[in-house]
Amino acid sequence: MSDPCLRDYQRIVFFTGAGMSAESGVPTYRGAGGIWKEYDYRRYACQSAFDRDPAAVWEFHNFRRGLVMRCDPNPGHQLIVRAEQQLPQVTIVTQNIDGLHARAGSHKIHELHGNLWRVRCDHCGVKQQDGPVQREQLRCPTCDGWWRPDIVWFEDYLDDAVVQAATAAIAGCDLFVSIGTSAVVYPAAYLPQHAADNGALCVEINPDPTPASELYSVHLRGPATAMLARLAAGVPELLG
Ligand code: APR
Repeated sequence: MSDPCLRDYQRIVFFTGAGMSAESGVPTYRGAGGIWKEYDYRRYACQSAFDRDPAAVWEFHNFRRGLVMRCDPNPGHQLIVRAEQQLPQVTIVTQNIDGLHARAGSHKIHELHGNLWRVRCDHCGVKQQDGPVQREQLRCPTCDGWWRPDIVWFEDYLDDAVVQAATAAIAGCDLFVSIGTSAVVYPAAYLPQHAADNGALCVEINPDPTPASELYSVHLRGPATAMLARLAAGVPELLG
């Protein structure tokens, strides 16, 4: 089968994981150089760790914010921005918390795992964008609870409203493009099935096969930027 072309579809969903940001320099979670190889998530990325030692968990998240701050959106993020501007309906469903799709200029983004730049009070639940980074400011001014990063840790539930919006977009799309996810983290890894069930053409962009590869009828084995360019081949306004 020759490569599909983004221009031929009316409702496109890009489903992105850490591999989308890899070419920006943001480390992935698994595989060579993966975050969870170096840092034990049980110490830094679950509610029980936060309950034990919030300062240590914050230190880890501030370190990750620093990593991401030094990175810029890559040409793949930018191609998706142009697709949103120039094609009828483009939605991003991302597992990434790095905010790079928004920084690139995309608007219709469902962040399944939250956002590294937003905080939520652990006690009263109030949220704040661009939350504090200084350790001495880490308590909520309203109720004195701890601010925690508003991201989905290992023991957390996903936000229902975000999952519903993402599921609706995926169930209604005619082209579903998964980019750079290992497809091992649930419930996010269930979502692509909705696209397949609805008859969407499902494309997997990943240098390596994943446990979900069978769901996809097109496999583009390579890095996100180059493989996205293949999906936009012959459409100069998307290639930029
Ligand atoms: N282009 C495309 N894919 C790439 C690239 C690249 N340049 N580099 C690596 N990949 C692929 C890897 O082959 C791998 O399959 O990206 C995937 C990254 O997998 P993970 O690190 O597991 O990232 P992700 O699937 O997003 O993780 C899901 O796990 O810990 C949680 O909450 C965290 O959202 C995260 C979730």
